[in-house]
Amino acid sequence: MSASKPFPPLKNDLILRAARGEKTERAPVWVMRQAGRYLPEFRAERVENDFFKICRTPELATKVTLQPIDRYAGLLDASIIFSDILVVPQAMGMTVEMIPGKGPHFPDPLVLPQDMTTKLKEKVDVQKELQYVFDAITMTRHELDGRVPLIGFVGAPWTLMAYMIEGGGSKTLSKAKEWLFKYPKASQELLGRITDVCIDFLVGQVRAGAQMLQVFDSWGGELSPQDFDLFSLPYLTQIAKRVKAELGSEAVPMTVFAKGSWYALDQLSDIGYDAVSLDWTHTPESAKAITKGRVTLQGNMDPNVLFGGDEAIIAAVEKMVRGFGSTERYIANLGHGILPTVPVEAMELFLKTVHRVGLEVAAE
Ligand code: CP3
Repeated sequence: MSASKPFPPLKNDLILRAARGEKTERAPVWVMRQAGRYLPEFRAERVENDFFKICRTPELATKVTLQPIDRYAGLLDASIIFSDILVVPQAMGMTVEMIPGKGPHFPDPLVLPQDMTTKLKEKVDVQKELQYVFDAITMTRHELDGRVPLIGFVGAPWTLMAYMIEGGGSKTLSKAKEWLFKYPKASQELLGRITDVCIDFLVGQVRAGAQMLQVFDSWGGELSPQDFDLFSLPYLTQIAKRVKAELGSEAVPMTVFAKGSWYALDQLSDIGYDAVSLDWTHTPESAKAITKGRVTLQGNMDPNVLFGGDEAIIAAVEKMVRGFGSTERYIANLGHGILPTVPVEAMELFLKTVHRVGLEVAAE
């Protein structure tokens, strides 16, 4: 499929304007992992199809991406392409399986630096290896019919490196950290190789139709501030700078989400991203004081509030939206992905309350 057929005109550009620092009538809202297991229609799809089969089949990825957009019609201001950060290690030559109830599993992880030679491709043809993501993006852009913008994404180099060495989730990341401290040069080589793939992948996503990009450093907060400076920040910086340099006037707004890296908020506001996504360890007031309008802030309700019942949800959204002030440089979201056991009604109340409070703040 090519991206040559013109895309339908965009009817809701709130999130793009908020990311660029323009005023908005209300705070735009979307939710990380909004296409996922809390939706019965997603679980039904997963009974039929393996996780990576959905990612690799543009028709299925498109269908699942649109599930929350259809269910919460008029309440979501962005869609995010259904895929996974681990498609990058796959493109680099590694096998990744998704084990139901357990999560991702690499049967043959990187153990020693020399594994970079034997287990990773020397040159990665991103266009070929990840064409299925580009096709899903192009198809989704058409199917969205301009209802909301489509977000593309990658995992950050540090988070991907950690998965490639740990072979899956981990409480301590001790194997990946052993690399950082025992083999710092090899670690930097690996991070650089991942960075190159991430850049080509993001550029390709925009050329295929993505209208905004997010970089997920889900394990950023596992690093000390010094190690984040050495092993994450330089690569996050390269990604923003080189993607924008390559795309030039086609460039789209970019968001960085370094979960747990509260200490890096000042630096993250200065490395070329338009928006910084926050977890729930920040108050709106302190985040605004640190970033001083340099970036748009996204976030940041604790996803577990969605288990707390209507009153708790309403109170937390009020505090969040009023705290960030809703019409300038703010995108409402959760502080991390929505969890699989959240009731669909709780998500709806979250979205409706963000709209209501956002409009109230705008009118004040
Ligand atoms: O709706 C969306 O946000 C788009 C789709 C999306 C998925 N994963 C789908 C998914 C996105 C943006 C991701 C990113 C992702 N994947 C991250 C970064 C964000 C974060 O949560 O920190 C990470 C760390 C991963 C790796 C990953 N994928 C894990 C750890 C797991 C298992 C844990 C879990 O939540 O199940 C996955 C699986 C995954 N990715 C699912 C979905 C809907 C569930 C898998 C299933 O259906 O069996």
